[in-house]
Amino acid sequence: MEKYLVIGDPIGHSRSPGMQNAAFESCGLGRPYGIRHVTLDELPEFFEYARKNLNGVNLTVPHKLLAAQLSDRLTGRAECCGSVNTLLIKDGIITGDSTDGIGLEEALKYCFDDEISGKNILFCGAGGAARATSVHLAGCGAKEVSFINRTLSKAVELSDLCKKVTPEVTSVCAVPEDENMCRTLLERADYLIQATSVGLKPDDPLPLPEKYFHKGLKLKIFDTIYHPTSIQRLAAELGILWANGKEMLIRQGAASFELWTGLKPDLAVMRRGFEEGTPGK
Ligand code: ATR
Repeated sequence: MEKYLVIGDPIGHSRSPGMQNAAFESCGLGRPYGIRHVTLDELPEFFEYARKNLNGVNLTVPHKLLAAQLSDRLTGRAECCGSVNTLLIKDGIITGDSTDGIGLEEALKYCFDDEISGKNILFCGAGGAARATSVHLAGCGAKEVSFINRTLSKAVELSDLCKKVTPEVTSVCAVPEDENMCRTLLERADYLIQATSVGLKPDDPLPLPEKYFHKGLKLKIFDTIYHPTSIQRLAAELGILWANGKEMLIRQGAASFELWTGLKPDLAVMRRGFEEGTPGK
């Protein structure tokens, strides 16, 4: 009987069942984690199902904002960013948590062997992925957390949220067409976090004009997408250090697992589970 689920729309290619079941199994807890397609309209009804039948849930696009409203309680970190990717269900009470921020923090440290504290972090994108992670990085002692986004108002909203939660952080916003500001932000950034949804298809454009990138940039690029994308290809061509979103997915999953079980999962086991879930493999 499945006691844990990952839900989303679309959800078919999620790697979460592979990596979570590998972690559960390695702790002698069987393979209790399933997958279900749930649309946004169905989310309130799903919450009532989960309340009665499940111990835990991971939520992905498009559920993270509405889940924060539907949860009975929120952890501090979910409340700060208004995003929920994990539900913990105990005695009929649903607690919403957000493990995306810690997932990105740990992935950055692991992939680039460096600290967040004192760093200039630049987000490209101000949608769901940026919302779930930027406030957390601001709280990790980053010097600057800035945003470039097509829709300026969404960047300003996240920038204001970062400054509200962490008043010491510097944060500015720009649209991709603002060449001077974008170049300034890219030159001083230590990390560029690619948090838009563009780049998945081979003929997708870059989220920022190609002319802004050059071999002399000192920044490292972290793409929250774990499939190959246009920005990953460009970074490789220019010799810019980069990483894809695989480690972030594993780390946010590990944090969810720990919340549910109180156990620290073996990350190597989860990485293997992630690979085994690779479509086509
Ligand atoms: P999600 O919840 O998956 O993050 P989202 O909230 O719609 O989805 O956010 C997607 C992000 O990708 C946003 O930053 C979006 O920019 P806007 O805020 O201007 O919509 C960005 N994005 C999507 N398509 C884009 C494109 N073709 N060019 C540039 N940015 C794009």
